[in-house]
Parts: sequence; structure tokens; C-alpha cells
Amino acid sequence: MTKVLISDKLSPAAVEIFRQRGIAVDVKTGLSPADLRGLIGGYDGLAVRSSTKVTKELLEAAPNLKVVGRAGIGVDNVDVKSATARGVVVMNTPYGNAITTAEHAIAMMFALARQIPEASTSTKAGKWEKNRFMGVELFGKTLGLIGCGNIGSIVADRAHGLKMRVIAFDPYLTEKRALDLGVEKVELDDLIARADIISLHTPLTESTRNILSRAAIARMRKGVRIVNCARGGLLDEAALAEALKSGHVAGAALDVFETEPATASPLFGLENVVCTPHLGAATAEAQENVALQVAEQMSDFLLTGA
Ligand code: MLT
Repeated sequence: MTKVLISDKLSPAAVEIFRQRGIAVDVKTGLSPADLRGLIGGYDGLAVRSSTKVTKELLEAAPNLKVVGRAGIGVDNVDVKSATARGVVVMNTPYGNAITTAEHAIAMMFALARQIPEASTSTKAGKWEKNRFMGVELFGKTLGLIGCGNIGSIVADRAHGLKMRVIAFDPYLTEKRALDLGVEKVELDDLIARADIISLHTPLTESTRNILSRAAIARMRKGVRIVNCARGGLLDEAALAEALKSGHVAGAALDVFETEPATASPLFGLENVVCTPHLGAATAEAQENVALQVAEQMSDFLLTGA
């Protein structure tokens, strides 16, 4: 009988799907890498979120493994090269959490524009600092999207509802798609020079790593705000901290960090920084969606090779 292991916390909907499709499924979360290596040999499929690291060593201990399913978008925790070399298919769920992540980016934009986290902390502390928290409107501002794929395009749609002007840098964005989305396709330098708010929606690859470098940050408009709900490593955290301190960057909202879990950072002590612990995909709806999608896709592949 075909067997799948779920090694990270997934919605129980995934177990249901596998069972309905006649696939045996075990749920074993929180295993050490050695324990996982010890039992992966018995499985045809492995379903993960982001905690399990699917390394070369793990793949070498998995002679029967045919598919790794990532319930989510990024496959940073999977050694795709080694998997491919061994004929193991790696699949993700690029759509299931896109709305949720886009909504988080919009929420971060509002949090920055109106300093909501700081104002909430101050009010709960019994202060009534009405004059301290002067915000800015999003209306009429230029939003620069770096990446305008599944998530970026939803952010663009929501931003239009807020009457923002949206410009996007994305080498994969066609002029026709940009037109359909009501987005102005621009080069990165142009975006950096023009945007009031820059939001990152691109995977971390060799060409996007440090895309908001120290030099790029220096070229941004004074008073720019930056949102990153994509991946740590896309921006230079030390340079950003300096630019926030000098006031060149007015605020930054970060859901992702170069090192995660991020328990210390030069950015944490700064007032004009809003942080969340990689919550971009953390809604009940998104987690249900990605669990269902990964189980359906893996079942289709394991049962029909499709
Ligand atoms: C993703 O890649 O799907 C997101 O970063 C969400 C996550 O893994 O928690």
C-alpha cells in the first residue's frame, strides 16, 4: 500500500484526503533529523510545511520516496537539486495561501502608516499620546511591488481599492498582464526612485538575494516605507537599521528575517519597525487550503503519476 508521512503540523483535512484516496498516512511531527532519517525509508511520499528540512542526507535515506509535498509556497527547506537528481518530485501549493499573505502585507502597510502597534502599546500602558502618533494616508501613494506574481498581484488589486498608484518590477510580468492588473511595469531602479512604499513579493533566489541592498536603500526616496512578507535575505537588515535610525527610511514592517526564528536583531529596538514572526500564511483558511491542496496533488501523483 502507498504510504505517506506528514512530518509537520498540517490541517487534519490532509489526513482525510489521503485516507479517502486509499493512501496510508502517518503523522509524526517534531522528529529529530536522525529519527526522520530512520523511518523515511518506509514511505512513498513526505508532506511538510517549513520545519522539516528535506536535506540530501534525508533523501539518501529514502529509497522509496517519490514525492515531497510542501504545504505552502517556498521550497527553501527542500534540497530540490538533490531531490531532482534522485527522481523525487517536489511540489508546492502556490495558490493556497496567496490571499492570506497579501492581506498580511496590506495589514503591515496600515500598521506602518498609522503606527498601530506602538500606539496600541502606549494606550494599553495608560498613556494617551494623541500627539505622538501622527500618521500618513495610503491614498494616492505610490506602491512599488518587487514581484507581481500570485501574491503581488493580489496586493496590487487590494491597493487599487485603497486608491494607491501601483508600479511593479517583475521580469516575468508581461506588458499585457500588467495592463490587465492596472499596474505600471517598471525597472528596479525606477521603482526604487519613485515608490513611497516598497513591498517585496518575490522568492529568494540567487538573483533576488539582497535585492534591497545598502546601495538600493540609499537611492530610495526619503521617508520611504518598506514591507517584507516574502523572505529574509531579500534586504540588507543592517543597512535598513541604519537607514531607519537616520530617518531616511520612515518605517519597515517585517514578517521574515534572514535568520529564523529571529530572536535578536538590530531592528527590534527601533520604534519605526513592526515585526511579526513569519505569520504571512498563518490563517485558518490558508492552512486548510494548503493542506487540502498538497494532499490532493500528492495523491494524484502517487496514484496516477500525474
Ligand atoms: C510559504 O512559503 O508558503 C510561506 O512563507 C508560509 C510558510 O511557510 O509558513
